Amino acid sequence: MSHLRRQLLPKTKDMPSGTGFGLMRLFTRKSPRSHSSKKKLPAGEQESESTTSTMSSTETTSIHRYDSGRRYNARQDIPYLLPNDEEENDRAHQQHWMINVAFGSNFDAPVQDALEKGIEVLDSGCGPATWTLEMAEKYPNSTFNGTDISPRFPQTIKPPNCHFFIHNIVDPAPFPDSTFMFIHQRLLSLGILENEWDKALADLMRTLKPGGWIELLEISYTQYENAGPKVTLLMQSVVTYGKSKGLNPGAAHVLDDMLTQAGAVNISSRRVAIPLNHGGKLGDLFWDDFKDIFMALFPIVSRLHSDLADIEDYKRFLDACKTECSEHETALYWIRSCGQKPSNDDE
Ligand SMILES: C[S@@+](CC[C@H](N)C(=O)[O-])C[C@H]1O[C@@H](n2cnc3c(N)ncnc32)[C@H](O)[C@@H]1O
Repeated sequence: MSHLRRQLLPKTKDMPSGTGFGLMRLFTRKSPRSHSSKKKLPAGEQESESTTSTMSSTETTSIHRYDSGRRYNARQDIPYLLPNDEEENDRAHQQHWMINVAFGSNFDAPVQDALEKGIEVLDSGCGPATWTLEMAEKYPNSTFNGTDISPRFPQTIKPPNCHFFIHNIVDPAPFPDSTFMFIHQRLLSLGILENEWDKALADLMRTLKPGGWIELLEISYTQYENAGPKVTLLMQSVVTYGKSKGLNPGAAHVLDDMLTQAGAVNISSRRVAIPLNHGGKLGDLFWDDFKDIFMALFPIVSRLHSDLADIEDYKRFLDACKTECSEHETALYWIRSCGQKPSNDDE
């Protein structure tokens, strides 16, 4: 955990109201399933883990693989590029606060009143469930369901209005048609193949009630502001490698189109340029997040750039990139789009 992160964590009063921070800490510390990232197996070696999801009695097996000391989902059909270990959970928690500050809210869809009265909500690809848990605490009358291909979410100690499932987003979800009034999905562009987004969104729309809202948020790896050569090299490495695996690192820019294609109406979106290492605390937070992402992506960047194959050289490159970003005032784009499933009256 970085110095900045340690400094920020106890300052709950700096966080947006209703962050559920105490709740989040309880779950991250006590998660009985978490494996320390310090446990190292040789690259390519696998470990199996058996997990029972909350509401279904299905026993699901998740296999991990290890690379450069980090733990990843090993399923051949899962192209996801980032790790699924404790270090990555820490990063995702902090990234949640950063997104919340940058966007000023946890969601844009007009569902506040419905959440207060009580609705069924899905967080698709919930990761360690930071958003899910915070929302569940803030809206106790609503029920929150999180899905993820890796069991990063809390599995025993969790609020009564939270349920979690191991599920591959591109498969039909274990929910009946018209279950949810609100579906949230954040940061899946490094997990869903470009040619599978339509299938994934079609199934999410199936489980959405008529009149319900779906919201997607992605970071763009393809367009940014004031980028110098170092940050460009890093971002282009993700683009090159991601495209070679069939991913769409520019998915952020087609969220509206994909929602339209999936049959959503009343679509709107917001683009926020988050500063990298300049402009105050948000820029500091984003640098911390960016550095952690690219430390996790070391195996990918180093395979594409032989001069960065040594981890110490790579760390020096990241340090130089940090300086470059503040000098250039680099900012990256995060895009949030929401749309509504037509109500039966509209048909
Ligand atoms: C960048 S994390 C975002 C987590 C969470 N949405 C958040 O914003 O904190 C992406 C998550 O998607 C999950 N994921 C990747 N591919 C998936 C798939 N095909 N089906 C379900 N989950 C997937 C990963 O395991 C990871 O937890």
